[in-house]
Amino acid sequence: MTSTHAFWLAGRQVTGEDTFDVTSPWDGRLVGKVGVPTDAQVEEAVAAAYAVRDEFAATPAHVRAAALDHVSKRLAERTEEIAQLISAENGKPVKWARGEVGRAVSVFRFAAEEARRFNGGEAQRLDTDAGGQGRLALTRRFPKGVVLGIAPFNFPLNLCAHKIAPAIAVGAPIILKPAPATPLSGLILGELLAETDLPAGSWSVLPVPNDRMPALVQDERLPVISFTGSDKVGYAIMDSVPRKHCTLELGGNGAAVVLADYASDADLDWAANRIATFSNYQGGQSCISVQRVIADASVYDRLLPRIVAAVEAQVTGDPSDARTDVGPLVSEDAAKRVESWVKEAVEAGANLLTGGDRDGASYAPTVLTDVPADVTLACEEVFGPVLTVQKVDGEAAAFAAVNDSKYGLQAGVFTHDLQVAFRAHRALEVGGVVIGDVPSYRADQMPYGGAKQSGVGREGVRFAMEDYTYERVLVLTGLAL
Ligand code: SIN
Repeated sequence: MTSTHAFWLAGRQVTGEDTFDVTSPWDGRLVGKVGVPTDAQVEEAVAAAYAVRDEFAATPAHVRAAALDHVSKRLAERTEEIAQLISAENGKPVKWARGEVGRAVSVFRFAAEEARRFNGGEAQRLDTDAGGQGRLALTRRFPKGVVLGIAPFNFPLNLCAHKIAPAIAVGAPIILKPAPATPLSGLILGELLAETDLPAGSWSVLPVPNDRMPALVQDERLPVISFTGSDKVGYAIMDSVPRKHCTLELGGNGAAVVLADYASDADLDWAANRIATFSNYQGGQSCISVQRVIADASVYDRLLPRIVAAVEAQVTGDPSDARTDVGPLVSEDAAKRVESWVKEAVEAGANLLTGGDRDGASYAPTVLTDVPADVTLACEEVFGPVLTVQKVDGEAAAFAAVNDSKYGLQAGVFTHDLQVAFRAHRALEVGGVVIGDVPSYRADQMPYGGAKQSGVGREGVRFAMEDYTYERVLVLTGLAL
């Protein structure tokens, strides 16, 4: 029997008047029915969040930290059940889903730790000029207001965690809207938050349909919008509310550069295996999955067959099977889009080395070379299990190729040379450079976000906490400094 999932309105469980179905991308089975909040229920959640904002901002740090620790602990206890749910609603292989739960456990734990040390206050003496004699400035950070968090389908638990946990850590109420395809993982977070003592109204999880989001985005009681998703939607949101604070985590077409010094058999085996794994994890549906390999001509001929072999070794199939590496994409439409982009590239002259087949929502891990620069696959984020490999001459050409993109989220550079690492850090127009590994490496406590059209602002627990708050100075006078 399939259960109907209520949503969370100002901390309590509520059903809507209507429901929508959540189905498995793998076999189309019904995973759950989810209540749709009515306009009146959305209004109630926003009004409650707005009303509680001062009380929540003043909540002692130990109360917020305890709530965050509780969620972390409960996620860990329920790992297997939640991993199965992620896998069912998203199609993500269960081994990757387990990893995602583990990351969310850490995100809430990091947020608890940061809540305890954030905002200690920074003192600055002002008597460095005569006019400031006896004066001291004390700077603390305060929430900008209620956060509207809009989460994507590809990490349905952890990217919800990245919106909610920093908000609670700073005492900012949050309205979280999970993705329509994968709302159940976000609703689980509601279950765990409901076990805490956080003030009613400080959090809601509302699966509002996308076509009703513009009204919520416009609501002046929600001054902060934290969005993760496509560049098209992200920039449309930002353009529609130019005076709001928008954090946008958008797309990427992650590049992995393999340089001439990365040339031993062990080096190339490592690079090829990491590239194959992270161009295909969760069907390539990560903003930092490897989409482009840029290899120095001196290693290209030995690297390419290794990559093809490693990609062909990826186990495809049923996401609930613990051996599966690559499951379906989120929908058949998504797989058809990937298929059409690959077809366009091949018709324009690209060389298909492996893959290129679609079966329903599943798309085979695919490798192409000689992809013309003007085809869609070369210009856009594929968000599928597709890899292009390009030969370049030397480091400068490799870095130029990485930068030859409208996106700039993360890049990986396989080199052993520390000087090259520093040059890459300077030259690459991205939010993060990973040396000796793929661009897909993300530690949840580090700043994460893009340059160019990959976004605006940074997540990563403490960085999102800064993003959700602003500095307010307190000037004290008449002091014996
Ligand atoms: C994303 O797709 O932007 C998130 C990647 C991650 O958290 O690993």
